[in-house]
Amino acid sequence: MDNKKINPFRHEYFLGYINQVLPQYVKVHFPSSVLLNGFTHYGQEFNGGLVGSFVVIEGSKYGFLGRITELLLPESERLSLSEKAFQTSEFHPSGKIEILLSFDLYDPLTVKKGLTTYPNIGAKVFVSSGDLVQEYMSRFGVRADENTNAIKLGYLVSSPNIDVKVNLQSIFGRHCAVVGTTGGGKSFTVSKLIESLIKLGNKAILIDATGEYNGKYEGLKNINIGDGKSVFHYSQLTIDDLFFMLKPSPRTQTPKLMEAIRSLKISALNKGENLKHKNDEIVIDEGIIKKINSPKKPYEAFYYRNISKIENGTADFDFTKLARQISAECVFDNGTAWSGISNNDVSHCVSLISRVTNLGNTPELNQVFGFQEEKKENDITDLIDDFISVDNKDDKLLRLNLKDVKYDFQVRETLVNAIGKYLLNKARNRDFEKSPVVVLIDEAHQFLNKSIKDEYFESKPLDAFDSIAKECRKYGLFLCIATQMPRDIPKGTLSQMGTFIVHRLINYNDKEAISSACSTANKNTLDFLPILGEGEAVVTGVDFPMPIIMKFEKPIEEPNSGTPKLNINK
Ligand SMILES: Nc1ncnc2c1ncn2[C@@H]1O[C@H](COP(=O)(O)OP(=O)(O)OP(=O)(O)O)[C@@H](O)[C@H]1O
Ligand SMILES: [Mg+2]
Repeated sequence: MDNKKINPFRHEYFLGYINQVLPQYVKVHFPSSVLLNGFTHYGQEFNGGLVGSFVVIEGSKYGFLGRITELLLPESERLSLSEKAFQTSEFHPSGKIEILLSFDLYDPLTVKKGLTTYPNIGAKVFVSSGDLVQEYMSRFGVRADENTNAIKLGYLVSSPNIDVKVNLQSIFGRHCAVVGTTGGGKSFTVSKLIESLIKLGNKAILIDATGEYNGKYEGLKNINIGDGKSVFHYSQLTIDDLFFMLKPSPRTQTPKLMEAIRSLKISALNKGENLKHKNDEIVIDEGIIKKINSPKKPYEAFYYRNISKIENGTADFDFTKLARQISAECVFDNGTAWSGISNNDVSHCVSLISRVTNLGNTPELNQVFGFQEEKKENDITDLIDDFISVDNKDDKLLRLNLKDVKYDFQVRETLVNAIGKYLLNKARNRDFEKSPVVVLIDEAHQFLNKSIKDEYFESKPLDAFDSIAKECRKYGLFLCIATQMPRDIPKGTLSQMGTFIVHRLINYNDKEAISSACSTANKNTLDFLPILGEGEAVVTGVDFPMPIIMKFEKPIEEPNSGTPKLNINK
């Protein structure tokens, strides 16, 4: 649109005058109630004085865009309210206007960040044309020297004839949170966002907790996890991840587990050969280091020579031998040598050994982490590598379907956290710089803010996504998390979210979590949250000089949450 053509103030749209100015809002006086009636102008409909409508105010140096939030009659006139009197403009209603942004009078499309001035008393108020509001929205997050590449996501709730077209950078550029009570429309919105990302040629990774995103997205690469075909091999996990699942007690079991892992790594590095040092030797039998009645020297010598490989923090050892190695660690240590079996240690480690055996023998877990097999070629990490590769121009959406992943042993949290950690390392490696990726996680409360806090184990958070939120924006890895319960998301992660898409929200604590995380959303707008309909949302964020109350368009591929319905007909 040509800047010069825009004249926000047209006398035919005149509504009234400002008669009071307060820091939070201004008041407008309508000389005649007739001005509040709706009218049609060149085929466009204006509903003059309805609550929620946009108005523009002509100040002396700046113009202002505002929204009517309240209409009222003076006390003296309220009593004589009748149909006839209202038609004959005998009433002098007034209204409150929330000022949303200010702009240069001579260059209306240049928006000023922050409100530094206010309109003066007597300033004229006009109904705002849809074009102006639309034009503002499409420029959010776009620098003056950049072109806008806005995509339509929906329309304004207050004025369905005004499309909401926004630049995706303004939504995802600083991470995005989609929140709202169940049935508010989060998943539909996520699907709409995915379609918009794909349409503009971007890549996205979707963590689909429930399997509801089963549509035919363009450039879809689908991975079903939990059916044994695609595995995130345990050797790609960190020791911490493994600890998270095994929960060793800190004083007695943790040191034995650490020793056993060290031993298995040593055994693998030495290819199962006996450890020799000068005249001493330690027997390695079927990959298990036999410490009983053995000198420590050969072990220690080998350990220090290979310390960086052994202490690399990853779980790259043979898990099938872990239970047996833990029992082999239960021996007395007399400084220079290991002697006989320590029955005390054995009894302390019984529960740990059974957890290890259990982990390795549970089919649901093996199908996710492959504890009984070697790493195969098509590991999930390989598939991720292939997807994000700059040369891969065909795949646009990588969907990781977690529908069949069980809830036991905190497998889901561990898996998603491990995927997060994998992406985090890729980002730190600058793998996304040339081709940025948005990671979308629906039902994020299932995965974030998880840590074990039991009486034995120190709290160890699964915080990969926290780190992604904190550091990965500059590396081109963006996060979009959708959840019913914002208070379940770690405060640190929430505070890193630049954009909020807030669907209907009723719970007081959730509303508080949102209002404390997004400073720009002012109280008036948040008042709309409990009354929003399906698919309607308040969109606010650092790149949004004003909050938008919009209805999202239905996505082409509708998520299918498949909530069982009660029969109401016979
Ligand atoms: N943009 C929209 N336009 C029209 N209808 C919508 C829109 N968004 C959601 N709906 C309706 O609301 C229903 C619930 O939407 P959705 O599944 O996205 O909610 P949700 O917030 O993800 O809920 P849950 O927390 O239970 O997953 C949908 O089945 C659909 O009928
Ligand atoms: Mg949903």
